[in-house]
Amino acid sequence: MGHSPKPAIAPPIPGLAGQAIVWLDKRFPLVRLWQEQLTGYYAPKNFNFWYYFGSLAMLVLVMQIVTGIFLTMNYKPDAKLAFASVEYIMRDVPGGWFIRYLHSTGASMFFIVVYLHMFRGLIYGSYRKPRELLWVFGCMIYLCLMAEAFFGYLLPWGQMSYWGAQVIINLFAAIPFIGPDLAIWIRGDYNVGDATLNRFFAFHVIAIPLVLLGLVAAHLMALREVGSNNPDGVEIKENLDPKTGTPKDGIPFHPYYTIKDIVGVFVFLGVFTVIVFFMPEMGGYFLEYANFVQADPLKTPEHIAPVWYFTPFYAMLRAVPSYFGTQFWGVAVMGLATLILFALPWLDKGKAKSIRYRGPRFRNFLIAFVVSFLILGYLGVVPTTVWGQLPKGLPLVGGMDTATLVARILTAVYFAFFILMPWYTKKDIPQELPEPERVTY
Ligand code: HEM
Repeated sequence: MGHSPKPAIAPPIPGLAGQAIVWLDKRFPLVRLWQEQLTGYYAPKNFNFWYYFGSLAMLVLVMQIVTGIFLTMNYKPDAKLAFASVEYIMRDVPGGWFIRYLHSTGASMFFIVVYLHMFRGLIYGSYRKPRELLWVFGCMIYLCLMAEAFFGYLLPWGQMSYWGAQVIINLFAAIPFIGPDLAIWIRGDYNVGDATLNRFFAFHVIAIPLVLLGLVAAHLMALREVGSNNPDGVEIKENLDPKTGTPKDGIPFHPYYTIKDIVGVFVFLGVFTVIVFFMPEMGGYFLEYANFVQADPLKTPEHIAPVWYFTPFYAMLRAVPSYFGTQFWGVAVMGLATLILFALPWLDKGKAKSIRYRGPRFRNFLIAFVVSFLILGYLGVVPTTVWGQLPKGLPLVGGMDTATLVARILTAVYFAFFILMPWYTKKDIPQELPEPERVTY
């Protein structure tokens, strides 16, 4: 942990403040923590834009928890009252609209930040040895985040909340043998109802956030143990200054990166507040229009689509045919698409970590992967009825509409990125560049 060569001592601050710190330090490791975790913790000096998103994810996490607490003060987890209580928050509670928009926008921003954070891991090989566990904790966080968003989305009890939950829970019913009973067990009823709302509330407000906080703590502990990677993939701990014992390519986290992260925070909050104040629904992507109508179990909305951050997986579900009359295959593909992320550290056989020194094969596969994820995301948003006409005028392939064909190919590309990785990273063509020993600028 850390690289502090000096023993922890209280800084010589004169007067009462100094005495208070000395008093505190004898009873609580305040100064030691400060030195070990901030001033004495050395991080690579070549962090770039992509290194903003870890601290931003922490910021959004805290923001979601704080705004969530205030929403809970006026929200009613009751199928008869929930929708009206959200309207009450929006219209009558002082500042209620602001808190709610911070929370709903925060959910989408959380995914934007986390997707960029994960992308950084991909381009710099941050999941590779010795950071496998750090990555695995990250993947668990990602799964938890999806569960948290799904549970939260039922709470306003709008049409999309209701029918979205109905569709997703029904997917579990497609699992052979145990499926139908499992779906009833999850719902607590034969249809999504008050019992479902109550348990989703419990999961959203306390169970998942606790797990999430625990996982983030584990993520950060693993990070501090192995140290951050960087855009050059250089392990800075392997090159210490003999005089000071600190990494030659490192700089103290505080003040250098605390200041850098604050810049990120201000830019982020600028973008965030513009969205909150001027476009909180984001054209139906952050808050779907159908969700401004109260849930009606007798009236299915014309088009049911999950929020944008789930749509790549939703498109995969739609792309897979129902062989033997069951949706199970689609559900399995969708589940595998998230679980395969865990295997990444063991699939990559390349010599260099960072994309800067890797060959074109890895780069091309990564580009194909990202592009397919984005297009699948788009296809997942588009109503199924429109799939048949997308893009207009192209001939049908074997009776299949073009969108289904594209979704199938892109699903294959998504999986190919992982499954073929041991092959295309082992010997990249024409070749990988030698990794530098010291960081570059
Ligand atoms: C609540 C969500 C998360 C929080 C609060 C969080 C927090 C952080 C922080 C503060 C850092 C160090 C700063 C930085 O490198 O940007 C970090 C690094 C890292 N995180 Fe996360 N993280 C989250 C989710 C994830 C997810 C979903 C993944 C991957 C599936 C992930 C993978 C990584 C990796 C590989 C690193 C090391 C990167 C490097 O050193 O190059 N994290 N995380």
